[in-house]
Amino acid sequence: MRKRIKTDLLIHDLKVPLAVVETGIISLLQRREKYGPITEKQEKVLARALRNTKVIQSLVNDILELGKSRKRIVSLKSLKFSDLIEQTLVETFDLVDRNTSEKINICADLPQLRDTLEERGLMLFMEEALWCQEVCLDEVKIRQILRNLLINALKYRKSRVELEVDKKDFYLVFSVKDDGDGIPSIYHKKIFESYFQMDVTDSSTVRGHGLGLAGVMILVEDMGGELFLESDEGKGAKFLVKLPL
Ligand SMILES: Nc1ncnc2c1ncn2[C@@H]1O[C@H](COP(=O)(O)OP(=O)(O)OP(=O)(O)O)[C@@H](O)[C@H]1O
Ligand SMILES: [Mg+2]
Repeated sequence: MRKRIKTDLLIHDLKVPLAVVETGIISLLQRREKYGPITEKQEKVLARALRNTKVIQSLVNDILELGKSRKRIVSLKSLKFSDLIEQTLVETFDLVDRNTSEKINICADLPQLRDTLEERGLMLFMEEALWCQEVCLDEVKIRQILRNLLINALKYRKSRVELEVDKKDFYLVFSVKDDGDGIPSIYHKKIFESYFQMDVTDSSTVRGHGLGLAGVMILVEDMGGELFLESDEGKGAKFLVKLPL
């Protein structure tokens, strides 16, 4: 427990220096009358640095959020599905493909978003009526869950990922499905344990930590939801999350 608090505190203390870096970059970008002119190339570098500072900041927040979640704190907020889905997708693609995340950012409606995603092999199944609806949810946790599942699916797919969002009675149901090598049933429990990865010899898996799904499981449970995995060797994987509204 003491060790846990110490790590949380260390992570927490990353916030201040990160904020200093962020304000510094923003000053250079936006206050040229004070800090002097910059070239177009320099501006691109600074913009990329800023985006990635934001990625680190959101990761730090995620880690702290996970700690909070262990204390079973759920903070509900009313929000539009469209904002939730769009923001989650921007965050996801910020980590895997920045061009796409910038395109998603400027999408005006659901059909346009669908087209943009389809170009990247991600199919979005969601009804227009739901897209416009407002719901009361723990936004941060849901974004974290979806982002982790999507990043995994994009990492392990062959060519295609399907994201489906639906509201059934009093449940929010969403699933992330890919067409990758899948997960043999002997590992269906194991992959939710911290630091567990299948095939660690494969260099593409080494980059992760085996922590994403363990975190997802904790978050789903804390919201009183359920997580189902349908997958078999060679047949892709489908993670389905059912959350009470
Ligand atoms: N969609 C998927 N298809 C096939 N295997 C998967 C899929 N998602 C997860 N796995 C397997 O489960 C393991 C655990 O996933 P998890 O998200 O917890 O860790 P990770 O993605 O390896 O690392 P990170 O901590 O960065 O998320 C992965 O290493 C992989 O072996
Ligand atoms: Mg992962």
